[in-house]
Amino acid sequence: MAPDPGAAGIDRAGYDLIVLANRLPVDRVADSAGADRWQRSPGGLVTALHPIMRAQRGAWIGWHGQPGPPPDPFTHDGIRLHPVELSEDDVDGYYEGQSNATIWPLYHDAVEQPIFDRDWRRSYREVNERFAAAAAGLAAPGALVWVHDYHLQLVPGILRRLRPDLRIGFFLHIPLPPVELFCQMPLREEIMRGLLGADLVGFQHPHGTRNFQRLAAHLLAAKTTGEVIEHAEGVTTAATFPISIDVATQQRLADDPQVRARAAEIRRELGDPQTLILGVDRLDYTKGIEHRLTAFGELLAEGRLDPAKTVLVQVAVPSRQRIDHYQALRERVERTVSRINGVHAGIGRLCVHYLHQSYDRAELAALYLAADVMAVTPLRDGMNLVAKEYVATRTDDTGALVLSEFAGAAAELSQAWTVNPHDLDRLKDAIVAAAHAEREQQTARMRPMRAHLRRHDVNRWAADFLNRLETPAGRGRVEAAA
Ligand code: ADP
Ligand code: G6P
Repeated sequence: MAPDPGAAGIDRAGYDLIVLANRLPVDRVADSAGADRWQRSPGGLVTALHPIMRAQRGAWIGWHGQPGPPPDPFTHDGIRLHPVELSEDDVDGYYEGQSNATIWPLYHDAVEQPIFDRDWRRSYREVNERFAAAAAGLAAPGALVWVHDYHLQLVPGILRRLRPDLRIGFFLHIPLPPVELFCQMPLREEIMRGLLGADLVGFQHPHGTRNFQRLAAHLLAAKTTGEVIEHAEGVTTAATFPISIDVATQQRLADDPQVRARAAEIRRELGDPQTLILGVDRLDYTKGIEHRLTAFGELLAEGRLDPAKTVLVQVAVPSRQRIDHYQALRERVERTVSRINGVHAGIGRLCVHYLHQSYDRAELAALYLAADVMAVTPLRDGMNLVAKEYVATRTDDTGALVLSEFAGAAAELSQAWTVNPHDLDRLKDAIVAAAHAEREQQTARMRPMRAHLRRHDVNRWAADFLNRLETPAGRGRVEAAA
């Protein structure tokens, strides 16, 4: 945990590549002797960026996960980390409030009611200024700065004013809603100006890119030609870059004999069910966990799935637990699980195994390998890396993916059993069809999806974004200033 003075020279000279994200890619955990240590964190963004940061020896600016004074900068797993301080008030206002009780629900189709609060907006602005100032102080002349996600949408604009020499990219990991929804946001112009401070803004899905262009026109009278948006401060390129996973690592895990043995053991521990259905999500109301459980419960009640031969394992990673929306969801999910088990389970035989826990990647891979059907049913999701991880893990081209059409991943994984999770009858049909699919049918669907992922892994995603940021077309503002 001690700061490593060896990296002080790099800090002084400035970094050529800086990533800003709300969270640092590590969590503080206590080891068996009770001593604190840092451990790489789970989560889509972290999973995606880790290999690139290691390869490029860049610096990552983010929050270390606890309110109060941050630790000194340190190096972990080959990445230089610069913690940003968040006070208790910042955590309430910027993180749990504006980011996760206003922006998160609004950007996910308002599937929960967004809450608007003036103090949260002030806090969001202040913390965005703090992140921008940290990057301005650490970036080498002309450095690439890559800002991530909805917590930091004001950073590009602020950083542009502080350091006009930088090339600034922004990637939104979640959906950008259409004009009609976005315009509920009291900070709407400020957020758009913040984002347009970047040279390049990336989205998961063409819908996000299109919504951004429309919003720029509607709110700031900007003009779009192709991918280039001309606005009062210069020009910004907006384009689609669907994020992916570290396919090679996922395949290595899948082929690891210990992981395969663990997958077989999981099935045995579950009583060797004929069909194992798996859900793996953060416990978030956008993930459609309740819709999935309801569909499963009805299928058991109707006898279309046999309770003695079918098991649903629902892994639900604890998430944002102090926020009301999340507490209410947890109560609803746990009630539903208990109702299904109460009616359909037997002594020593559960129908739903609900695991409100975090797992390491090997255990998750074993679960993916053990599952006959992977149910990914979000009501709205920027991408959904779990769906891609499942496909990449099935190196023998077996298994069946049920995938919501409202996940960004559906644009690429088109051979999945695609469903509208709001349409309960079709969702049930898709689960049954996936559960009964013959091996040839599974292979015919899985093979092209796996081939797609092998060609579009996270390294390609990051390289595409960074190359684009470096090219003159992505450097609109530099050209405009010349
Ligand atoms: P989101 O970013 O909204 O959480 P994604 O599906 O895009 O959703 O990414 C979730 C990431 O978190 C995946 O990489 C997945 O492997 C990981 N993850 C999901 N469940 C767990 C768990 N129980 N323990 C550890 N990691 C998990
Ligand atoms: C999503 C967001 C990420 C976020 C992650 C975990 O993937 O796009 O930015 O880090 O969820 O959420 P948390 O609030 O725990 O950081």
